[in-house]
Amino acid sequence: MLAVSLDGRLAPPAGGAAQLGGAGDRRVLEEALAWADAVLIGARTLRLHGSTCLIHRPELLEQRRRAGRSPQPMAVVVSRSGQLDPALPFFRQPLRRGLLRPHAPGAPPPRPSGFDEGWPLGTWPEALAALGASGLDRLVLLGGAELAGALLALDLVEQLQLTLCPLLLGGPHSWLPEGVALPAAGWELQEQQPLGEGELLLRYGRRRSSGCGSPGAGPQG
Ligand SMILES: NC(=O)c1ccc[n+]([C@@H]2O[C@H](COP(=O)([O-])OP(=O)(O)OC[C@H]3O[C@@H](n4cnc5c(N)ncnc54)[C@H](OP(=O)(O)O)[C@@H]3O)[C@@H](O)[C@H]2O)c1
Repeated sequence: MLAVSLDGRLAPPAGGAAQLGGAGDRRVLEEALAWADAVLIGARTLRLHGSTCLIHRPELLEQRRRAGRSPQPMAVVVSRSGQLDPALPFFRQPLRRGLLRPHAPGAPPPRPSGFDEGWPLGTWPEALAALGASGLDRLVLLGGAELAGALLALDLVEQLQLTLCPLLLGGPHSWLPEGVALPAAGWELQEQQPLGEGELLLRYGRRRSSGCGSPGAGPQG
């Protein structure tokens, strides 16, 4: 799930830690987090923001508690470099942390410090299967654009949840990276909801031909 401007940008021209959504976007974001077993976050987004979004609404926390789930979904960071400053507030947030990172064939799985779990990132279908084997089936993709582009290019996203924000930003930061090759995918509008303050939630589900599904991320983040 992403908050995007009317011209499809997820950050202002200068880049940096973008905060496009208002209170309504925050509300649907927390609802998606409450659904999720884990969120996927690109390492650059985490470096820029320093932390990840948490569920704060008491009724959502209570709903997870009653279902025997952890208060927060696990935060799984996706990184090639593994370069994450241990001083980031993220490493003090009250949640479980995971790292998805390529590693040399035959090497033992990464056991990064500061993280509770690590998985090798070979192919994306393998990585999603490994997360599923760890009980992380419901995934919310929180962005940024590079990570979203990687999963969309492989047609591994089942749902797009976009909050359209009443802004025109211009600049280079489209919500998908320039040049990413996308499958000729059809999307079905599942929900449209005014969120207040001029924001509009648009939820699209991937339209698949009968009988063929593939594993993938849920509400896109
Ligand atoms: N409006 C919104 O809803 C929203 C949401 C999220 C982010 N944002 C904004 O988006 C911007 C950041 O997005 P971004 O596209 O520049 O970066 P990003 O996707 O957050 O992170 C890119 C980094 O993630 C890792 N990565 C991404 N794809 C990978 C893959 N397929 N395999 C392995 N590692 C992968 C790499 O980490 P390493 O560098 O460690 O190798 C890469 O440098 C920021 O301005 C942020 O504020 C906006």
